[in-house]
Amino acid sequence: MGKNARKTSLYNAKSTNKPALSKTREESLATTSDVLGKKLRNFPEPTKTPEAGNARVISVVNQKGGVGKTTTAINLGAALAEVGRRVLLIDFDSQASMTTGLGIKGTALREQYGSIWYLLNDSEAKLEDFILKSSVPGLDFIRGHEDLAAAEAAFVSEIAKEHKLRKLLAPVLDRYDVVLIDCSPSLGTLTVNALTASNGVIIPMECEYFAVLGLSLVKKTIQKIKENTNPQLEILGILATMFEKKTSHSREVLELIDKEFPDEVFDTIISRTVRFSESTVAGVPVTAYASSSTGSASYRRLARELIARGGAK
Ligand SMILES: Nc1ncnc2c1ncn2[C@@H]1O[C@H](COP(=O)(O)OP(=O)(O)O)[C@@H](O)[C@H]1O
Ligand SMILES: [Mg+2]
Repeated sequence: MGKNARKTSLYNAKSTNKPALSKTREESLATTSDVLGKKLRNFPEPTKTPEAGNARVISVVNQKGGVGKTTTAINLGAALAEVGRRVLLIDFDSQASMTTGLGIKGTALREQYGSIWYLLNDSEAKLEDFILKSSVPGLDFIRGHEDLAAAEAAFVSEIAKEHKLRKLLAPVLDRYDVVLIDCSPSLGTLTVNALTASNGVIIPMECEYFAVLGLSLVKKTIQKIKENTNPQLEILGILATMFEKKTSHSREVLELIDKEFPDEVFDTIISRTVRFSESTVAGVPVTAYASSSTGSASYRRLARELIARGGAK
């Protein structure tokens, strides 16, 4: 009997332990299902790699700084690359934090040649000559530069200034499945360029009250772009970032946004975790720095959700 009992308990220990572990990880991923009680949707692992060509261009936009635009562009990009998508990231912010987050620092970062700034200023330069490979297979990028801020003012008098980025990107679209543009915290000429070049927009939004007020401004800008330079532009989703499960404030803010834009809020919610700042310092996406963290799992879920919703191929 003793022998059998031991067998049973061993069996039980094994069979209960494993699912319990993976369940804990799944449970700690925030979604609109557990936070707002919406229907839980599971997004399948995308298996098929799309046919080459005609990349979807997506701008990551919010005029507020520090809301998770760069973090989203890098980690969503890395998560899409993990499922076989060929991804090009464009650092379109003069702070060049995406470039830093991908490991380029010091003199290399200050070099104008090879940056998006240089591309915008030299009419002979071709974007394909300046594509860099990140440490993640399938994830390429174009370096940012601090002088990009000055480009904003320099463009103002140019003809067709809103279309500069679209024209630069056109020759490489056939090489990628997704192009992600990390925008600056403003709705000026550079962001107008990004939106004019894009099929869709992702709006990361910190779960904090003032963020709600800023949302209508982003939406107004998108509407203007649709009316003037890019009628097919669509909002792919509003992404709640830096969510704190333990405070009621995060949830209240999310409830407000969801009430106003029920179809636009991504099911996937990105929780606040120190892993993101750590991975920036390390110069790699969080999916490489802490592959089994909830931060990585959230961005992988977002990648599946984006593909399932048709926002990316
Ligand atoms: N979900 C998150 N949890 C904790 N820190 C985050 C999160 N997302 C981003 N951060 C950190 O917050 C800061 C601002 O994020 P960032 O992506 O650079 O915002 P933006 O590009 O909108 O200015 C960075 O230090 C980043 O590492
Ligand atoms: Mg940024």
